[in-house]
Amino acid sequence: MAQTHNEILQEKVSTISNLPTLPQIASRLLTTINDPATSANDVAFLVSQDMSLSAKVLRLANSAFYGIPRSITSITQAVVILGMKVINTIVLSLTVFDMFPQDKNARLFNREAFWRHCLGCALISRMLADTMKSFVIFDSEEAFGAGLLHDIGKVVMEQYFHDDFHKALIHARENNISFYDAEAETLGYTHADIARWLTEDWNLPQELRLPIIHHHNPSECREYFDIVCLCHYADWLCYQAEIVIDDSYAAPALDEESVNTLTIDPHQIERIRESIDAELQKMSVFFDLASGK
Ligand SMILES: [Fe+2]
Ligand SMILES: [Fe+2]
Repeated sequence: MAQTHNEILQEKVSTISNLPTLPQIASRLLTTINDPATSANDVAFLVSQDMSLSAKVLRLANSAFYGIPRSITSITQAVVILGMKVINTIVLSLTVFDMFPQDKNARLFNREAFWRHCLGCALISRMLADTMKSFVIFDSEEAFGAGLLHDIGKVVMEQYFHDDFHKALIHARENNISFYDAEAETLGYTHADIARWLTEDWNLPQELRLPIIHHHNPSECREYFDIVCLCHYADWLCYQAEIVIDDSYAAPALDEESVNTLTIDPHQIERIRESIDAELQKMSVFFDLASGK
């Protein structure tokens, strides 16, 4: 009897002996950041437990991206000046970069282009959320986090299911279809399915989980619909701006009906398109840290 979609995935996931687990500091921050009882001191104390992480957080806090005119010299200062949610996003980004370092044997997948695409999507998501501020119930930082992690399933596939990844990639190239469609056609599961399992294991909050899981099929999600659509649209805009992991296959389709539910001024989209390259440039410290520099 043919296997169901869930059985295929369950069988896949069970072959991974060492799950990529989210380190404790990032996971504690994620679970406490929205608790009103959490103070700036609690966040600073938590981050300070890891000296190497603290040094990287300070490097990012002082980067052109955050544009703070005076130098930030302590984690407490960073939390007070940038805010707890921004620190949470920085820690999450750094943690995930560290979990999936460049693999020199990986010839199919340019990790730098991958992080550039993820950061591009994070950045566009945040810019879109900023323009929609009065309409949305989520925070711009949540939009950034969702954009950053939206394709995390791909990096897990590349690392743990290399042959499947290769098969889908070749199929996408030969048929000039999107990687997502190629995965569905050749494997019976996609990077979004892998992300469903991973983000559950990591215990990510729903406002991050759902956009990651549904960034290719927003209409199938009803909860947190705004942030799901926004992540879908930001991903599509990345392809439009050629901020792509690989340009040898087609861009994923746009779900116009879902995107039309977002209240975005078309002039703002133009402004984002025009400024995205310069904004990504300001994030060069992220790339340095991602590549271990
Ligand atoms: Fe994707
Ligand atoms: Fe993507």
